[in-house]
Amino acid sequence: MKDGANPSFFYYNQETLSLGCGHLATPRLQSSRMQDRILVTGGAGFIGSNFILQRMQDSSFLITNLDKLTYAGNLRNLESIASDRRYAFVQGDIGDRKLVSQLLAEQHPAAVVHFAAESHVDRSIRGPEDFIRTNINGTFALLEEAKAYWGGLSEADRTRFRFLHVSTDEVFGSLGPNDPPFSETTPYAPNSPYAASKAASDHLVRAYYHTYGLPTLTTNCSNNYGRFQFPEKLIPLMILNARDGKPLPVYGDGKNVRDWLYVEDHCEAIATVLHKGRPGDTYNIGGWNEKPNIEIVETICDLVDEMAPRQGTSRRELITYVKDRPGHDRRYAMDASMIERELGWRPKETLESGLRKTVRWYLENHDWVVDVTSGSYRQWIATHYSA
Ligand code: NAD
Ligand code: TYD
Repeated sequence: MKDGANPSFFYYNQETLSLGCGHLATPRLQSSRMQDRILVTGGAGFIGSNFILQRMQDSSFLITNLDKLTYAGNLRNLESIASDRRYAFVQGDIGDRKLVSQLLAEQHPAAVVHFAAESHVDRSIRGPEDFIRTNINGTFALLEEAKAYWGGLSEADRTRFRFLHVSTDEVFGSLGPNDPPFSETTPYAPNSPYAASKAASDHLVRAYYHTYGLPTLTTNCSNNYGRFQFPEKLIPLMILNARDGKPLPVYGDGKNVRDWLYVEDHCEAIATVLHKGRPGDTYNIGGWNEKPNIEIVETICDLVDEMAPRQGTSRRELITYVKDRPGHDRRYAMDASMIERELGWRPKETLESGLRKTVRWYLENHDWVVDVTSGSYRQWIATHYSA
């Protein structure tokens, strides 16, 4: 948007649909005390939509979801709450400062929970620019507007306000086989353009706490899996290819290690940090589930064989080793003992139970999968919300 222009975006839940051109539509959320409102960015993505659905189960929450709806944003994930008066969606870019400023002033949230990002390493290798724009410049814009908003609050509201930045373990770089897992004090050493852009955003968040006193919290989490993950990432890609009898492309020797966390556990960890975390601190979140990729892929093959049997052949026969990702980090592992010790959070799901739930979800949610793989989810707004 050009400087000085009025923000043009739409703001709705199903009931309040208003396709605003050149104006900010009036929100019709139920009024509430400040501490119940959260502005979520990137809430139509994988983790953000799981977070919103989980938090909406607590009836005291009001949530405004600001999402640009890139290829990774899918409003279908939030279909079940689209007409809930406690929820509203705004399509817009976190880098649009005028929009963010008006939204903060109007919604008066007690917290910003910042998920919005470009999130896929392979895409960052092919085209890093969007990662710089959203992850670095977008986070900067959001911090600037949050600071201005926070500075204008009453003392009580200033004390209560939190800016929670959702980040990744990838900022710490790669571990050797015998290295201890990453802790909150491990030096940053990002290796991919994605990781570098997230590291830069983490540093900005830190600086806004130290320089301006903005009450920030940062969470660095390991690899997530669960429902609604876009099938460009390892686990959903392997489930769907295995289901369809397509090759399962394993990068390099398949021995790269990731620490897997079920997405709902991650969402609970974020809520815990939001309510109990100490401003200025960072919290490592992980599943205590280090596994080489090949073991994950083999487990998925066996689960798909069990739940969707194919005559005579095992899905393991589809495993195909392919050229490695450039700069592929060898091992990630998180020491999540600080969040357990200080805030009492620990993952509930085991890798076995979480993978079983996830495979079942992708096999049973055929419409969601077809929508995403065909691209028709991008028409979701037009077909379901047009006046
Ligand atoms: P995702 O790619 O599924 O979703 C990102 C969402 O952000 C999408 O809905 C997209 O439309 C939105 N978005 C992108 N650019 C935007 C912009 N400029 N303005 C507004 N919205 C924009 O990502 P995810 O996997 O849900 O990850 C969410 C956050 O968690 C990211 O910050 C990511 O770095 C972090 N994280 C992810 C994982 C993981 O395993 N997926 C692990 C640790 C941390
Ligand atoms: P991914 O899901 O892209 O997450 P990240 O790169 O953020 O860890 O990949 C997880 C691991 O799986 C990573 O080591 C790369 C590997 N991988 C494959 O072997 N094949 C694939 O097709 C994909 C997408 C990933």
